[in-house]
Amino acid sequence: MKILLLGANGQLAKTIKETKPKDINLISFSSSEFNFLDMQRSIKNLENINPTHIINAAAYTNVDKAESEKELAERINAYAPFEIASSAASLECKFIQISTDFVFNGSQCYPYKPKDIVSPLGIYGESKALGEKLLLKLNNSKIIRTSWLYSPFGKNFCLTILNLLEKNAKNNIPLKIVSDQVSCPTSTYSLSRLCWELILNKESFVKTPKINHWSDAGIASWYDFAVGIAQVAFREGIINSLPEIVPIKSKEFPSIAQRPNFSLLDCEDTCKASKVKREHWSFELSKVITKIKSRL
Ligand SMILES: NC(=O)c1ccc[n+]([C@@H]2O[C@H](COP(=O)([O-])OP(=O)(O)OC[C@H]3O[C@@H](n4cnc5c(N)ncnc54)[C@H](OP(=O)(O)O)[C@@H]3O)[C@@H](O)[C@H]2O)c1
Repeated sequence: MKILLLGANGQLAKTIKETKPKDINLISFSSSEFNFLDMQRSIKNLENINPTHIINAAAYTNVDKAESEKELAERINAYAPFEIASSAASLECKFIQISTDFVFNGSQCYPYKPKDIVSPLGIYGESKALGEKLLLKLNNSKIIRTSWLYSPFGKNFCLTILNLLEKNAKNNIPLKIVSDQVSCPTSTYSLSRLCWELILNKESFVKTPKINHWSDAGIASWYDFAVGIAQVAFREGIINSLPEIVPIKSKEFPSIAQRPNFSLLDCEDTCKASKVKREHWSFELSKVITKIKSRL
């Protein structure tokens, strides 16, 4: 088994590397070695490596900037993954693509199932939905849609809130967080568990649907998530004082791209087919904050 991991500097890829089982040959490339905008060189690279599996953790992930960079977002999130997966198919190599809850428009008020109609509100979601549509044509590809990823690495909501808690408490400024967008935070560690299961257990790869939904268990607004982060961080002694945390409406926190108000994913099919256990997001959050603490 030889695994090729793309997007090596991203938060998911860093977790996949950290959780690599022993005796697995994992080759990981960042954008400087395997760039989705230089497909000729990248495909040559792929053919030389001749992996058995590819995990694509690379993506254009700037949701707001994507509104003015449609072509770039589509190249990175749709056309390049399709070209890589197509070449992988001719090498009999399996391809795992990570997608997003932002393919949905949020008008539903119960969890989205993998077969529900996609209708993204912004360019980022559109580019990821286009990637899914192309990859569905191939037999070697699996899609995992996930929501609100966070980790001890890079840039994510959990690390941003940890920084703001300290700063706002010191300056006695309330922390205002959107409470009318609801989904579920997902630790990169739980998503990595699913990726490794699909690779290590052939039966799981065969039995899981082409489109999988994967988030941690439970439901939360960004406000709930921020309060959860504050509670654990305070308990763990990462911060010594807490600011007031105030729920606000999305319209009070304008952003360039529109986000879905509700994008909770129904993960039942994938849970049953893969036998990977989901834990409540608050439990996963405690584990991630313990890791963050150990890195301080
Ligand atoms: N973050 C979330 O909340 C979230 C939610 C749902 C789904 N997802 C999906 O989950 C996956 C992993 O996300 P993440 O949060 O780990 O992303 P991330 O931390 O932003 O990492 C993305 C990686 O993609 C690489 N990349 C960007 N442009 C590239 C190019 N032209 N060629 C090759 N690599 C390129 C970047 O490399 P450089 O650093 O070298 O530029 C970066 O390391 C993505 O598919 C994302 O769409 C994320």
